[in-house]
Amino acid sequence: MNIAVFVSGNGSNLQALIEAQKRNDLAEGKIKLVVCDKSGAFALKRAEKAGIETFVLEAKGFSKKEEYDRKIAEVLDEKEIELVVLAGFMRILSDFFVDKYAGKILNVHPSLLPLFKGAHAIRDAYEAGVEKSGATVHFVTRELDSGPIILQKSVKIEQSDTMESLEEKIHKIEHKIYPEAVKLFVEGKIILEGERVTILK
Ligand code: GRF
Repeated sequence: MNIAVFVSGNGSNLQALIEAQKRNDLAEGKIKLVVCDKSGAFALKRAEKAGIETFVLEAKGFSKKEEYDRKIAEVLDEKEIELVVLAGFMRILSDFFVDKYAGKILNVHPSLLPLFKGAHAIRDAYEAGVEKSGATVHFVTRELDSGPIILQKSVKIEQSDTMESLEEKIHKIEHKIYPEAVKLFVEGKIILEGERVTILK
C-alpha cells in the first residue's frame, strides 16, 4: 500500500514512521512520497536521508486552498497513493481533498481528543492544569480535529512537569501510536462505520 506522509516542520513523526518501515513494522505499507508546504522544513532532510521522494509545494501563488490541494491530488494520483498520513502538516485541507480521500486520511493530534483541539493543544492542556493529556490518531473529516478516533494513549501530568517535559512525553507516545495505527490501517484492521471505529484483532 503506497503511503504519502504530509509534513511542514520537524518531522519527528515522519521519522518514527520511517523507522517502523525499516523494522518491517508497517506491514505492506510503503512510504512512497513526502509532501511538504515549506521548502526549508527539516522533515525534508529526513525524507531525503531515507531515500524517499519529496514533493514540495509552497502555498504562495495559490489564491484558493482547493487549487493547491488539487495540485497535490494530481501528484498523489500519479504515484498511486492509497493512504495519506498527516504528520505535523500545518495546512487545513479543503473539502475537495477530504472528500476525495474520505476514510483514507489519518492525523495525529497531541491531546486526548475531543479535548484541546487546535494548534496549541499541549500548551492548552498544560495551562488548564488537567491531570492527564495524551495523543490521538484519528481519521480526518471536514471538521478540524473531529474525525473518528482510531488510537489514543494518555500521559499523566505531574506537578513537576514543565511545558517542555510534557511536550516530550506526548511526542514519545505519538511516535509509538502513529506507526501502530498506520500498520493497522494497512492490514485492513480498522473498520470505520459511520463515526465509529472498530479495530479487528
Ligand atoms: C505533533 O505534535 C503532532 O501531533 C502535530 O504536529 C506535531 C508534529 O511534530 N499534529 P513533528 O513534525 O512530527 O515532529
